[in-house]
This record gives sequence, C-alpha cells and structure tokens, in this order.
Amino acid sequence: MSFKVPRGTQDILPEQTPKWQKVESILRDLSRVYRYREIRTPMFEQTELFQRGVGDTTDIVQKEMYTFEDRGGRSLTLRPEGTASAVRSYVEHKMFGSPDQPVKLSYIGPMFRYERQQAGRYRQFVQYGVEAIGSADPAIDAEVISLAMDVYQSVGLKDLKLHLNSLGDKETRDAHRTALINHFKPSIGEFCSDCQNRLEKNPLRILDCKVDHEHPLMQSAPKLTDYLTEQSSVYFDKVKSYLDVLGIDYEVDPNLVRGLDYYNHTAFEIMSTASGFGAITTLCGGGRYNGLVEGIGGPDVPGIGFALSIERLLLALEAEGIELEVEDALDIYVVAMGEEAKKKSVELLSSFRAKGISADMDYIDRKMKAQMKSADRLGAKFVIVIGETELENGSVKIKNMHTGNEENLQFEELVNYLLENK
Ligand code: HAM
Repeated sequence: MSFKVPRGTQDILPEQTPKWQKVESILRDLSRVYRYREIRTPMFEQTELFQRGVGDTTDIVQKEMYTFEDRGGRSLTLRPEGTASAVRSYVEHKMFGSPDQPVKLSYIGPMFRYERQQAGRYRQFVQYGVEAIGSADPAIDAEVISLAMDVYQSVGLKDLKLHLNSLGDKETRDAHRTALINHFKPSIGEFCSDCQNRLEKNPLRILDCKVDHEHPLMQSAPKLTDYLTEQSSVYFDKVKSYLDVLGIDYEVDPNLVRGLDYYNHTAFEIMSTASGFGAITTLCGGGRYNGLVEGIGGPDVPGIGFALSIERLLLALEAEGIELEVEDALDIYVVAMGEEAKKKSVELLSSFRAKGISADMDYIDRKMKAQMKSADRLGAKFVIVIGETELENGSVKIKNMHTGNEENLQFEELVNYLLENK
C-alpha cells in the first residue's frame, strides 16, 4: 500500500518553503504598514456560521464544504474562507465596543473547499486576507484595494488588472433581482438544476454558474450597474475618485458579481494577465459586506475586505518568470576527520549557533570529499576542515566558498570572524 497526499492538497517541500516564508513575511510586513493586526481563528467553525455568512445558495455552501459531525453530535465545517470567522470573532469579542474603529484585521492560514482540482484550484489553500469592520467610508474601500495591489507589486508582479464593480445597496439588488427573474424565467428549463433552484432563491448566483456560463442569456442578462440607486452611485464614484488619488488603474466590470452572498457596494477582483497563466486568472477577490455583522448576530456595522491565495500568487510569479530572492544559505559547514575532531566540531557548532550563525556538519561518517560535496550542495558560504594538525595547533583554515579566499584563524577567533563576514 502506498500513501499519497489527498487529492487537491500538496506538500510544500523544504526547497519550496523559503519562497513561502518570503511571501508570508512580505504579507506580514504590509499588514503592519497598513495596520491590519493579525487575528487567528480556529480552522473549523459551527457549520451554520458559513451557511448564514457565506450564503445558503452559494457553490461554497452547497457543494464545497468539508462538513463533519464531532463526537458530541455538533455539525462543524473546515473553514472555506476567513471573513465569516473574523466577523464571528468581532461580534463574539464585542470589538464594536472598542474606541478605535474601524477594527482592522488580517489573517494567513489554510482554507478548505471541495472543488474540482485544476491548476490554481486546490482543496486546501492558504489565504491571506484583511477585514476592516466599522467604517462605511469609501476611502477605506480604496485603502483595502490599495493594500491588495501593494501585495502583488511588492513581489514584482506587473501583468495585473483590477476589475471593479458596485453591487449597490438592498434597493439596487431587489430591483435587479426582479429583472433577473423576468430575464431567465421563460428559458430556465435550459439551465442546470442548480440554476433552476437559484431562480427564485437567489437569481444573482445564476450569473456565477460554472456549468451554464456560456449560455447566451448570461451575456444579455440585466446588469446590476443599471439599477444602482443614486446613493450607491455616489458611493461608487467616491471609491473611484480615491483610487484615482492613489494612482490605481481599474476597469469597471459590470459582470463581476463574486461568489459569496455577503457583498454589496464595492466588489473587486485582481486578475493576472500574464500569458503563461492558466485558465483561472483571479488572484484576489474582495468587497464590501454591510449587513454581514448584523446577519451573524452583531450590531448593524459595515465592513470590507479581501482575500488572496499564496498558491495563485506563486503561480503568477512563475508565469511572469519572477524569482523571489530568498535566504536559504548555510553560513558554515564544519568538516571533521576523526573522533577528536568531531568533538571539537560539535563544540564549535554550538558556539556558532548561539550567535545566530547557521552551521552544520556530517552525521553519517562520510569521507572528507563527500563532506565537501555536501557543504557545496547546502550552499555553505564558509568551510573549515578539522583534523589532527588543526587540533594540535588550535587553529584552522577557513575557506570562503564564494571567493576561494582562505585565512588561518585560531578556533576562538572563528565566531567573530563569521559575524563580521557572513
Ligand atoms: P474568494 O473569491 O472566494 O473570496 O477567494 C479569495 C481568493 O482566494 C481567490 O481570489 C483566490 O486567490 C483564492 N482561492 C479561492 N479558492 C481557491 C482554491 N480552491 N485554490 C486556491 N486559491 C483559492 C473569499 O474567500 C472572501 N472571504 C474574500 C473577502 C474577504 N471578501 C471580503 N473579505
């Protein structure tokens, strides 16, 4: 019997983790700069939170959740996204009572969706997301979008396009909903059974259907933007004007509806336009969710946020041929010949590591040549070889593997030398 990772998941191997860590550190740094403080919520929540938060008629809730019953008979679900959890925590911990509003949160962690596996679509993926809860100022919409754009610019991506739309307020969506029902109803028999179910419950979701997206009625469907109320329109214009102040280019895309139910007003997605990128080009998605906090038991407080997956960010880097500069080198490798030399190596390694100098040695009794090769493979910057002569003299030749330069040093001098030269 041979075991494999579950379908749609992947191991991130030691050769790949430096890249992940680099991206994560850029994300943490941007969160700090924009002051979105990190929140860590559980990997699973009560199932009902997502049913109510993400929406009963969405693909996520209907088809993609990993739901299980625990031994106490409670229905729990591995989180498919982070917004519902962040908002749940905001309500549970009464963050709305804090004098500092909006509450600005960020998170990085695995999310789980039972989706069809394809390039850029996994069943476990790592999302970075932010949520600004407690402000209905269009300037914060622009801040959130600008943070998302900054993420991609910080890693060097260029082939990006920001799609922007307004989903309006309740009045907008009610009018649009009626128009959608009238549009699809006469031909609903030509659509999949999910769409048929959605017609009365939530016709907007039909536009998001992965099965019938090429049906001619999709293109001619009434556009939300044509139903924007005066107030929604003014709000949208303000968001756009702040984006202009920030010099952020966007394309208004009336077909952008997003796949989760909690959105209203601003909705946006950032796409990769790189030629090598696969079929799924969305790197990041987000929007405003006034009403969600109240919907899951809190006060009537507005919010906005976005999420992106690190997997897709890395795919975009690959498509644009960008190599992140990562730190994965070893400062020093100690080659030891004989039992006494090995004792000295163990002692030296400990003194190096105590000063933050990364150091390694052989633990499988290899010959000198094999140890040297190992030092090379590990990318060691310096190598020392300890044998009988070195032990007698109390000194050793330290070789800079990049320049070939060699120096003779007392054992006691090594730490300082490395601290100055590594
Ligand atoms: P979402 O559009 O469902 O929104 O996901 C956001 C991002 O997560 C996508 O743009 C993509 O980068 C990534 N993603 C989603 N599914 C997968 C997958 N199966 N494999 C790899 N990456 C994936 C949300 O999750 C909202 N919570 C975003 C948000 C936050 N809205 C407001 N605040």
